[in-house]
Parts: sequence; C-alpha cells; structure tokens
Amino acid sequence: MTAVATTAPLLVYFSSTSGNTARFIEKLGLPAQRIPLHRGDRELAVDEPFVLVTPTYGGGQGRGEEKGAVPKQVIRFLNDERNRKNIRGVISAGNTNFGDSFGAAGDIISRKCHVPHLYRFEVFGTQDDVDRVSDGLERWWVSQLKSTIQ
Ligand SMILES: Cc1cc2nc3c(=O)[nH]c(=O)nc-3n(C[C@H](O)[C@H](O)[C@H](O)COP(=O)(O)O)c2cc1C
Repeated sequence: MTAVATTAPLLVYFSSTSGNTARFIEKLGLPAQRIPLHRGDRELAVDEPFVLVTPTYGGGQGRGEEKGAVPKQVIRFLNDERNRKNIRGVISAGNTNFGDSFGAAGDIISRKCHVPHLYRFEVFGTQDDVDRVSDGLERWWVSQLKSTIQ
C-alpha cells in the first residue's frame, strides 16, 4: 500500500486535454481533486482548505501580460464563494518560452485571492520539482497548522 502524507493540504488542480498538470499531480501522489474541463460536467465544490495548481494560458496576449492567463474553468471555480474561501496557496504551471508570462496565472490568483504563490514549474515538472513541491508543501502546511493553533 502506498503511504500518503497526511500533513499535506488537499490539492485542487485544473488540467486541459494536454494533461501536463495532471501528470505532475500524479507524480506527487497527494490527495487531489480535479476542476472539470467542460461546462456540462458536475461542478466541483471544495469545503476544506486547499492549494490550487493551475496551468497558465493566454500566451501573454492582450492588455498587459495577463489577459486570459487564468483558465476560464479556474475562474468559474473561484467565483464560487465556497471554494474561494478555502484557497490557501497557489502553484502555477507554464512554459518559460512565454517569458514574463511564465506562470502568470499564479501571480494573478495570488493577488486576487491574497494567498502566496508557492511555486511555478514547467510543463509536467521535473523530478526536482516533484521533490521540492512535496517537501515544501509539507513543511509549509505544518507551519500553517501551528500558526492556526497558537
Ligand atoms: C495556447 C497556449 C498558451 C499558453 N500560454 C502560456 C503563458 O502565457 N504562460 C505560460 O507560462 N505558459 C503558457 N502555456 C503553456 C502551458 O501552461 C503548459 O503547456 C501547461 O503545461 C499546460 O498544462 P495542461 O496540459 O495541464 O493544460 C501556453 C500553452 C498554450 C497551448
């Protein structure tokens, strides 16, 4: 049986049909729930604290580098107050080919939801990204829990 770290937060993620972010989440092996791709799919409502993992789209086009950077499915998910009140941090995915827009979705969500942008990784992440995120998430989450108790 695979041991699952109980000291990590729930991950909520979005991944398009290319599935890169989903691959990264699989490699992490932590409890995770996926934001649905299609409008007709059953909407996701999360009633516990979570860290959001989202790819960046938009390619830095439009006004500023931000237009369209956050996938619309993620916007819809966060527009639901029940979900928004439980977000504790964000991790972004992207591609450094997009220059300044690399991981821009995480910057935008961090600013709008007042949560830390914890990490950004490329495509489906390297083993180094997987190790850093799993270690970092666990340490950060424990410190969050301690500050809540104090
Ligand atoms: C049309 C398009 C636009 C993109 N725009 C950006 C961008 O602005 N910034 C960025 O960092 N990555 C950008 N990417 C890269 C994606 O974020 C990256 O491929 C990611 O791994 C996709 O995740 P997914 O397969 O889980 O949907 C773009 C990719 C595509 C196809």
